[in-house]
Amino acid sequence: DLSVTWLGQTMPGCLYNASGVWCREEDELEALHASAAAAVITKSATLKPRDGNPEPRYCRTPLGSINSMGLPNRGFDYYLDYARRYRYGSGKPLFLSLSGLSLDDNCAMLRRLAEEGLPAVPEVNLSCPNVPGKPQLGYDFAATAEALEAFDAAYSGLYGVKLPPYFDPAHFAAMAEILNRHPRLAFVTCINSIGNGLVVDIDSEAVVIKPKDGLGGLGGDYVLPTALANVREFFRLLPGKDVVGCGGVKSGREAFMHILAGARAVQVGTCLYHEGPGAFSRIAGELAMLMRVKGYRSLDAFRGRLRTL
Ligand code: DHB
Repeated sequence: DLSVTWLGQTMPGCLYNASGVWCREEDELEALHASAAAAVITKSATLKPRDGNPEPRYCRTPLGSINSMGLPNRGFDYYLDYARRYRYGSGKPLFLSLSGLSLDDNCAMLRRLAEEGLPAVPEVNLSCPNVPGKPQLGYDFAATAEALEAFDAAYSGLYGVKLPPYFDPAHFAAMAEILNRHPRLAFVTCINSIGNGLVVDIDSEAVVIKPKDGLGGLGGDYVLPTALANVREFFRLLPGKDVVGCGGVKSGREAFMHILAGARAVQVGTCLYHEGPGAFSRIAGELAMLMRVKGYRSLDAFRGRLRTL
C-alpha cells in the first residue's frame, strides 16, 4: 500500500512530477493525471506568460541533466484556469507552483488563488536559479523571512515552498527557524536543482547549454545525496511539517531512500523528462516490490526511520 495521507486527504500513492517537468501545457498535465502519478504539480507560473531563455537550454548527461529554462510558462491565468477545471474527485491533489519575479507578483498570485477558494495547493518556488539577474530567494534568509510574512498575509490556506539545496548545518538551522514561524506553511519540497553547475563537452570544448554561458541547474544522479541530506535535516528540524523529497529519483530504490530520510511524498524530475509519465507505474511497482521484500506494508512503517551508526 503506497497511499499517503497528507494535507487532509489520502492520495493513491507517493509519487508525482517535479515542477517544471511535463507540466507546462494542459495536455502534459492531463497525461500526468491519467498516469500512475499520485498528484500533479504545474510548471512554475509567473504573472505573465514567458518564452524563457534561448535554446539549447536543457541537456541530458550520463549522470543526469543540466537546464537553464528561464521560466518558460503560460502565465498564472492559464494554470488558474486549469485548476478551476481540474478533477479533484480523482483523489490526486493538484499543486500550483508559483515563481513570481518579485514578492509583489507572488503575493498577487496567492491572493488570486485565495479569492477563488479552489482546493489546489500552492508550492511557492523560492529557488529558481535560471533567471539572469534574479538570485535564488532561498539563499537570502532575510528576504525569505520577509516573503513568508507577506505570503501569510496574502493567503489564508495551507501552502508549501520549494527550497534550494543547502550545504551547511548552520544554513539548515537558520532556514528552519524562519520556516517554523509559519504554521500554515505545511510542507517544504527539497530540493530544487543544484544551481549553476557547468557541464563541459570535451569534443566541442564547449558548454552544452546557451544561457548564462553554460551555467545551469543540475538534476538526476548528481543531486541524490544532496537531496537526501536536505530531506533528512528538514525532517528533523521541522516538526509538524511535511517534507516532499525531490532529487535523483529514477527507481523504487531512490524513492525508498527519500522516504526513509523522512519524505511524505516524492517528486520525479529528470527521470520523468527522459522516460515520460510511464515512469510512475514503473517506479511505484519497484517501490512496492522493495517494500514487500523488506516486509513493510505501508510508507508509515519506515518513513523517517533512517538509522545512524
Ligand atoms: C526554472 C528552473 C527552476 O529550477 C525553477 O525552480 C523554476 C524555473 C526554469 O529555468 O524555468
